[in-house]
Amino acid sequence: MSLEHEISKRRTFGIISHPDAGKTTLTEKLLLFGGAIQKAGAVKSSKIKDHARSDWMEIEKQRGISVATSVMGFNYKDVKINLLDTPGHQDFAEDTYRTLTAVDSVIMVIDCVKGVEIQTEKLMEVCRMRNTPVICFINKLDREGRDPFELLDEVEEKLNIKVRPLSWPISMGKTFKGVYSLYEKSLHLFTPSKTKVEEGIEVKDINDTVVDDYVGENNAKQLRADVELIEGVYPDFNVEDYLSGKVAPVFFGSAVNNFGVQELLDTFIRIAPPPIPRETTLRLVKPIESKFSGFIFKIHANMDPKHRNRIAFLRICSGKFERGNNYLHVRQAKGIRFSNATAFMAQDRETVDEAWPGDIVGLYDTGNLKIGDTLTEGEKMIYTGIPSFSPEIFKEVVNMDAMKTKQLEKGLLQLMEEGVAQLFTYELGKKKAVGVVGALQFEVIQFRLKNEYGASCQFVPQNIYKACWISSKNPQKLNEFIDSKQRHIARDKDDKLVFMAESRAWLKMVQDNFPDIEFHFTSEF
Ligand code: G4P
Repeated sequence: MSLEHEISKRRTFGIISHPDAGKTTLTEKLLLFGGAIQKAGAVKSSKIKDHARSDWMEIEKQRGISVATSVMGFNYKDVKINLLDTPGHQDFAEDTYRTLTAVDSVIMVIDCVKGVEIQTEKLMEVCRMRNTPVICFINKLDREGRDPFELLDEVEEKLNIKVRPLSWPISMGKTFKGVYSLYEKSLHLFTPSKTKVEEGIEVKDINDTVVDDYVGENNAKQLRADVELIEGVYPDFNVEDYLSGKVAPVFFGSAVNNFGVQELLDTFIRIAPPPIPRETTLRLVKPIESKFSGFIFKIHANMDPKHRNRIAFLRICSGKFERGNNYLHVRQAKGIRFSNATAFMAQDRETVDEAWPGDIVGLYDTGNLKIGDTLTEGEKMIYTGIPSFSPEIFKEVVNMDAMKTKQLEKGLLQLMEEGVAQLFTYELGKKKAVGVVGALQFEVIQFRLKNEYGASCQFVPQNIYKACWISSKNPQKLNEFIDSKQRHIARDKDDKLVFMAESRAWLKMVQDNFPDIEFHFTSEF
């Protein structure tokens, strides 16, 4: 098969949502359509429920599940779909942000009762950074939800993206009748079912009385009024606007009832982008280029503590990946060969000999690879757009077992390479601060340091508001700034300079006082 053909049939995407909106349920239904699983209930939720906060077994189990469900590949109507799982729990948001760098588009699930929730807003910000195309699925129409027009307005307002409904609900909750597809001009009647899919009924003219026969006179009247309003208010759907991240097409349905999911999937494979060109430090790389290249966006370490092996997740961006070939590890400037490479099909893992742009390959690694690393056939470029974000909670690491200092350092380093948290080392006194997005990560780190490295540590809360990466066009001014703020200067894992700001107000003051210094909230600038 040609490279062009392989690229054109691939769709690599992620599902994002606020926890409980229905991401796991939708994932499962999509896998059912792809024939990747046989029955409902096969997809384990990778979410960590609140009651499990301190349940270590649960954390280990979740790690296992999250490896198994990190990437789910399946075929649907000649299209190879790679679905990348994103942890819903906000404490693991960093992992989700990074996974979003490896997708070409996303489906966003919104609960029709709750509307746009906080986590959805944050994730959308990340999508906007790279203009990722978004399809919106408004879920749980079998419940009494909010008015659909109101929901659309909220999406536009809170998520700062234009919307265009492609289907429209006919009533809701107990009296939910189904949806009208504005795209195909067909009626899909709702019957609660976990597996069955009803065929759409073609309705060329919405004024046809068959609509009344199917959904009742009042509902038909309301639908006609709604459709008229939609056609009047929203411009026609334009695929280009969707692909450039300006407009999100919207579908309504009920994932648990398998309703509206097939239309979503059919439209998805038609309009979602195949692997897109990506930026590197040297140039834009197109998937169609014959030479292989890709980057690491996720690492899972120590699944078996007896063997310090880890799985690095490689997103292929151009050319063909072949197992056993010698590739350039750009950061280390050396050749690297993978005899052990894994593809993720459904929930199985199988050895893969070759893979194409858009595919995700699991590489067994003994410690050479870090998140953000690029592999090529020789060109010394590095994929960009895989930043670290400034964490939100900071604690100082205190070693509790002097006999295990080495283990603690090694463990911290490896966990940071895995992207569990970020480590900042102060210039003065070499004090180490760990920054995370959510408090639960501290528990995970402490547990894993003990369990996997035999090291004991405690975390002492630190009064830090933000870690800002700093730069300046004027090296002298930068040095002056560092001298005057010595106690607050640290280095990140890549040795980049970071200013540890103690409060929002103080940061603002420092910014005003040092106009020559640039403060950045992500590590890439
Ligand atoms: P998440 O991954 O986004 O966190 O959400 P998940 O799919 O786990 O769904 C959260 C809850 O919402 C689940 O109920 C699920 O069954 C339910 N749900 C999903 N889609 C629909 C829908 O279309 N209609 C209705 N009414 N509910 C839906 P749960 O009670 O938390 O879990 P479970 O015991 O049912 O698995």
